[in-house]
Amino acid sequence: MDLYIDTASLDEIKQAADMGVLDGVTTNPSLIAKEGVDYGKRLAEICEVVEGPVSAEVIATDYAGMITEGRHHAKIADNIVIKLPCTIDGLKACKTLSDEGSRTNLTLCFQPLQALMVAKAGAYLVSPFIGRLDDIAQDGMELIGQIREIYDNYGLPTKILAASIRHPLHFVQCALAGADVATVPFKVITQVMHHPLTDNGLEKFLADYNKAFGQ
Ligand code: E4P
Repeated sequence: MDLYIDTASLDEIKQAADMGVLDGVTTNPSLIAKEGVDYGKRLAEICEVVEGPVSAEVIATDYAGMITEGRHHAKIADNIVIKLPCTIDGLKACKTLSDEGSRTNLTLCFQPLQALMVAKAGAYLVSPFIGRLDDIAQDGMELIGQIREIYDNYGLPTKILAASIRHPLHFVQCALAGADVATVPFKVITQVMHHPLTDNGLEKFLADYNKAFGQ
């Protein structure tokens, strides 16, 4: 499974890249707003750090606006993936931009038929949002399994990018459900490498060694 980081923070992206585990980045308008930076400038900075796919979301909600913005984002760097919403206009924009050779990420996917439709329109990635479904008492992880089954039934090449991951349990369940990619916040990426038995074991090894041989 590929690992993307879900952030617009350059510092977090650099730290994850330094860990040697980073395959790509997803951003969205809320994440950019949190950073308070120019979207185009930040995307260019991210693409200098990361070679893998960097999702750049359009702000427009109509077809024409999405095409204009998407083409603009695509010029920033070769690894830009244009992020479009799972709406009818997003579907049409997905078809046009995919036909032009751009890679697209269809975001805000909350039910399996949206995923089937965007795959038919040529999406490179689909982003089912797990956490936001859990928030309304629906099983977000079930959606990942359903999309996996549909895509496998018909050999659809669109990659499942599990999004809205809130904690390590989401992360591991995505891997078990067969998501192609998980986009994970920096906090969760670091959380998974902490285990009390690792920390205690390391402490004990060092204590035993120092007791026998001194420091
Ligand atoms: C994905 O591309 C989105 O940016 C993200 O995963 C949304 O997560 P949230 O529901 O925690 O805001």
